[in-house]
Formats: sequence, C-alpha cells, structure tokens
Amino acid sequence: MASAWMLGSDVTYLNHGSFGARPRAVYEHQCSLRNDFERQPVQSIVADTEAVLPSIREHLADFIGTTPDRLDLVANASEAVNSILRSLDLQPGDELLIPDHAYNAVHQTLRYVAGRTGAVVKVVHIPLPIHDEESMVQPILDAFTSRTRLLLIDHITSPTALVFPIAGLVRAARDRGVDVLVDGAHGPGMMQLDLDTLGATWYVGNLHKWVCAPVGAAFIATDPSRLSSLHPAVISHGYEQGHTEEFNWQGTRDYTPWRCIPFVLDWVENRWGWEALRVHNHRLVVWAHDMLCDSWGVDPLTPRDGRLLGSMATLELPKSIRDRHDSEKSLHDLLLREHSVEVPIMEWDGKLWLRISAQAYNTPDDYRRLDEVIASMR
Ligand SMILES: Cc1ncc(COP(=O)(O)O)c(C=O)c1O
Repeated sequence: MASAWMLGSDVTYLNHGSFGARPRAVYEHQCSLRNDFERQPVQSIVADTEAVLPSIREHLADFIGTTPDRLDLVANASEAVNSILRSLDLQPGDELLIPDHAYNAVHQTLRYVAGRTGAVVKVVHIPLPIHDEESMVQPILDAFTSRTRLLLIDHITSPTALVFPIAGLVRAARDRGVDVLVDGAHGPGMMQLDLDTLGATWYVGNLHKWVCAPVGAAFIATDPSRLSSLHPAVISHGYEQGHTEEFNWQGTRDYTPWRCIPFVLDWVENRWGWEALRVHNHRLVVWAHDMLCDSWGVDPLTPRDGRLLGSMATLELPKSIRDRHDSEKSLHDLLLREHSVEVPIMEWDGKLWLRISAQAYNTPDDYRRLDEVIASMR
C-alpha cells in the first residue's frame, strides 16, 4: 500500500495525526488544478472554481451526514474555530467550558475572545487514566452552571488521542441551553460522521488529516438557527450576503485544496472503501497500543480493547526513557535523527508521552521497529 502515497521510504512514519499525508493520485490531481490556474488565473478562480463550489459542498455534505446549506469551507480547523468564536455575542461573566485535553491553539482562541468580552474560560480537568466514558463525561457535566454559554469539546483529543463520547455531551449541553462547538479536527475520515443526527451547534473538521485531502481543506457544519450570525474570520465582499457568499470569498487564495475534496472522497472509496479503511486503521492501532504497553511495561491510558480509541493512541514512555530525556523536542529529534522514526512526543501531567497513528501505509512492522528502537535506548 505504501507505494500509493507520497511519503518517503526512508522514515518510519507514525504521525499521520499531525498533518495527514496524501496519496500520490491526490497530489497529482492538485498539481493539474494548479497548472490550470497558472494557465488562466481569472478563468480558474472566477469561472471554474465558482461553478464547482456547490457540488463540492454537496459531495462533502453526503460524506459527513449533513446538507450543503449548513456547510462552509475554510482552510483549516483554526480558521473554523476563529470564525465561530469571533461570531459569538458574548457577555461579561458568560462561562466557556473546555476540557484540559483540548488542542492548545483552540484554547488560545477561546482565551482571546473571552479576554475581549469579559467572558470566563473554565478549563475542566479530565483525570487520567480513563476507564470508561463516564469518567470523561461527568467532570464536564459537573462544571455546568447557570452562566455556561458554550462547551467546546474535541471529537478526538490531540495529546491523549481519546475519542470523546460527543453524542451524550451534545445532548446534555443543548438540553441545558448551552451551545456546543465540536472540534473534529481528527474526526472526518477517522470516524463515521452523521452530523445532523449529532446536533451540535457547530462541528468543525479538517480534511487534510484523515481524509488525506491537500492542506487547506476544512469545514464548518452549523445548526441552521445559527447560520445568519456566523461570519468568516476574514470579512470580504460577501459580507451580509449570507454565510455561503461570505465564506466562499475571503480574499484571493489557493482553491485547489477545496477542489480536490470530491476527488479524494471518491478515490479512497474506490481504492479501499472508507469503512474498510477506518476498520483497518483502528484495528492496527489497537493492536500496536496493546503490544507496546506490554513491551514497555506501562499502564494504558485507555482500555486495551480500544473502545475509546480511533486511529491514534497515546502511550506513556517507559520510565527509563523518561528519566533520561526531559524534553519532548530532544527525544523527538533523537528518534528522527538517529533512528528515522517520525512520532510525536508530548509532555502531559509532568510526564513524557508518545502518540502513534495508523493509516493505510502503516504495517505491524512499523510499530515493531518503534519498539526495537525504544528498547535500544532503555
Ligand atoms: C484537536 C485539534 N484541533 C485543532 C487543530 C488545529 O488544526 P489546524 O492546524 O489544521 O488548524 C488540531 C491540529 O492538529 C487538532 O489536533
């Protein structure tokens, strides 16, 4: 399978989660769209791209279980979260809940909007290890007060790779009249999505990660009642002409990532099938997680059966490694430089952790190699 991808063969690549990776066919499709643009920039943007935007949104809406009229395209999850949070009419004292496992950049955006409005960010501590869904849900439910305006939760957390039980949390929050923004940066492609049934106020997803689209393709799906108050982070010609017009044009930009969305959705479906790919990736990461926990003699962060995992897993590093390396960067660089293994190392709760990903190009040998490398460093 590896030959279908652009990744170099000189590195054991265990970090699909950060920036994804592209199949060669997707890369080549984007190159042909870029060539078209350079041959006739005006025609490419003003006529060709404008003509296909509705069908791109239709295709994507079908894949994530919503309708095109609720969908806006953006460049990445950061832009999506900025657009949503800066569109809110927050009041002093409004409480904005976010779990401590949330992505740091998103947390900073929340701090920024709170700081400008007098709203208060409340960070909810979710203690580790996690034995069941209840231990992720209860601390959040306990944090609701009559001042809570917004719950911002990850679908899949970045540092800890947990799949949050978002359906129950969305219901619980909306029953209390609290808006929910789901940060699904890792959701599309890793999890089967049915966003209309989920019923979050907003769900944002990256397509460059687990959908394997070019970098620059992401979306916001919005509850119909909030579409008229949603504005992009960049206000441009379309202001007050409806969310579709506002998001479609945010200044001159490269539209080829958006234009690749239908191609990559069909290509993966035809090559592997989305469901088969999700099952493959999940099984592989659950097996690798179990194997490495045993080999390293560490307690798992989540149940070994993988019911709280998607296609990533975070593991505590063996104690001897933690004792010898106190910085995530130095250990990451050592693994890459000396052993050609690309894998993220994180500091969390005063300890060092490592996150593995599983994608179609990975095989059990990749994780055995990581195991050998760690064994040689202990
Ligand atoms: C959970 C989560 N949210 C948001 C982001 C931000 O995504 P981007 O850098 O594409 O804006 C990431 C990136 O890895 C993430 O993991």
